[in-house]
Amino acid sequence: MTATLPTPSPIPNPGAAESQALAALRDTARPHVDTALPGPRSAELLARQEQRESNARSYPRHLPFAVAQAAGSFIRDLDGNVFVDFLAGAGVLSLGHNHPELVEVATAQMSVFTHGLDMPSPAKDAFTEAQLSMLPAGMRDHVKIQFCGPTGANAVDAAIKLTKTATGRGDILAFSGGFHGSTHAPMALTGNVAQKRPIANSMPGVHFLPYPTDTPSAGAPDGVEPSAWEASCLALFERALTDPNGGIPLPAAVIMELVQGEGGVNPASVAFARAVRELTRQLGVPLIVDEVQTGCGRTGTWFAFEQYGIEPDVVVASKALSGMGLPVAIIIYHRDLDVWAPGAHTGTFRGNQLAFAAGVKTVEIFHRDRILDNVRARGEQVRARLSALDSLPAVREVRGRGLMWGIELTAHSDGHSAGHSAGHSAGQLAEEVQARALRDGLILELGGRDDCVVRMLPPLNVTEQVMDTALDILVHAIEASTVHTG
Ligand SMILES: Cc1ncc(COP(=O)(O)O)c(C=O)c1O
Repeated sequence: MTATLPTPSPIPNPGAAESQALAALRDTARPHVDTALPGPRSAELLARQEQRESNARSYPRHLPFAVAQAAGSFIRDLDGNVFVDFLAGAGVLSLGHNHPELVEVATAQMSVFTHGLDMPSPAKDAFTEAQLSMLPAGMRDHVKIQFCGPTGANAVDAAIKLTKTATGRGDILAFSGGFHGSTHAPMALTGNVAQKRPIANSMPGVHFLPYPTDTPSAGAPDGVEPSAWEASCLALFERALTDPNGGIPLPAAVIMELVQGEGGVNPASVAFARAVRELTRQLGVPLIVDEVQTGCGRTGTWFAFEQYGIEPDVVVASKALSGMGLPVAIIIYHRDLDVWAPGAHTGTFRGNQLAFAAGVKTVEIFHRDRILDNVRARGEQVRARLSALDSLPAVREVRGRGLMWGIELTAHSDGHSAGHSAGHSAGQLAEEVQARALRDGLILELGGRDDCVVRMLPPLNVTEQVMDTALDILVHAIEASTVHTG
């Protein structure tokens, strides 16, 4: 008997009607959700997805809709609901969905040359030039760039292999709360224990140290004085690198995010980051800064390390390099580390010419439209609006840099909590905020320990008005989920 295949969903054609609908979506005045979530057509696709796709699928579990179209800061689902998208492809879509100029250059490149392994081409050359031009002046001249397989995890892998090769050493120091990707070695460097637990024999020689933040709590465990915590983290780091009886051989590298993203939007303490840089330099240990999430303008400078006044030995970048979600990943590193043998880090998909063309245009638009100024201005808008949330008992801390924000929630079952939230864990509260915001038309992400941090990663060209709308929804969702309702 022949199995009947389900009728595939029709893929919309970019005809005149579609273009009109996209233009209208881009100019949406207010998001609207007119069905239960998921709506009936989304529910159909979600059910088919559940049947056919792996149990590892993640986003649709908390964001239950199927996407029909997206434009700028907005997504329309198959049932006609329109959401503000403050997930932005996990921070990938720096200029929003389908920025028309990026679409234009990528489309033009499509008929010229699409896939180039690691061969030179005009698109690649221009992309390389554009990336180098965004580095601080003193750094440009002594770095090399390597094109990796097109994911952040692949580039993290490359950075680890490079530093191991260059130093001849095998150990790596990483930080608790860090996230470096889901393939085997990057996961070994990642803090999230639940994700690692089922994976036996992960990369050996990884040592974790605590990471103090640049926030009032300093990321300290409950009951520990923040300044004492920062001092202890510094002392432990120094000890780990220098104690001849400390058990850790001099490592091949230290890897860190300067604002931990998946870890819950934790900006590193400036004093700590500088001390890490100073000591690693003194000891000849390469410092890898993972800017996969923070890079390309997300925190208000092209790279976050600029704000810390440090220069890493290796920078990892990926997500927003093309500005529109076309995959590409690079490492930029000091020339002295360039000890690779030819072919030492290959990968078929290192030459996505569409991503290169879009990446060049992205840099041009960043300059022309002063996108970094927008990131800083919108970031201040967020700070001003959300700082009042700190007084809510269920809000532990509001923190962020540029357009990377997190609101850490905390469980509070003191009898004065909301009917909704009484007895809920912080993670459950965050989930409730996410669901409530979605019902009001705002897509948010979760992160941090037990997913207790509600996160925003808006497009970097988001307007003041869309930001206002989104903040209204967010604040209402937090208040409704956490405030005493009597
Ligand atoms: C800091 C950081 N490093 C690495 C990665 C992994 O990137 P990818 O998912 O493209 O492999 C991520 C992804 O979120 C990230 O945030």
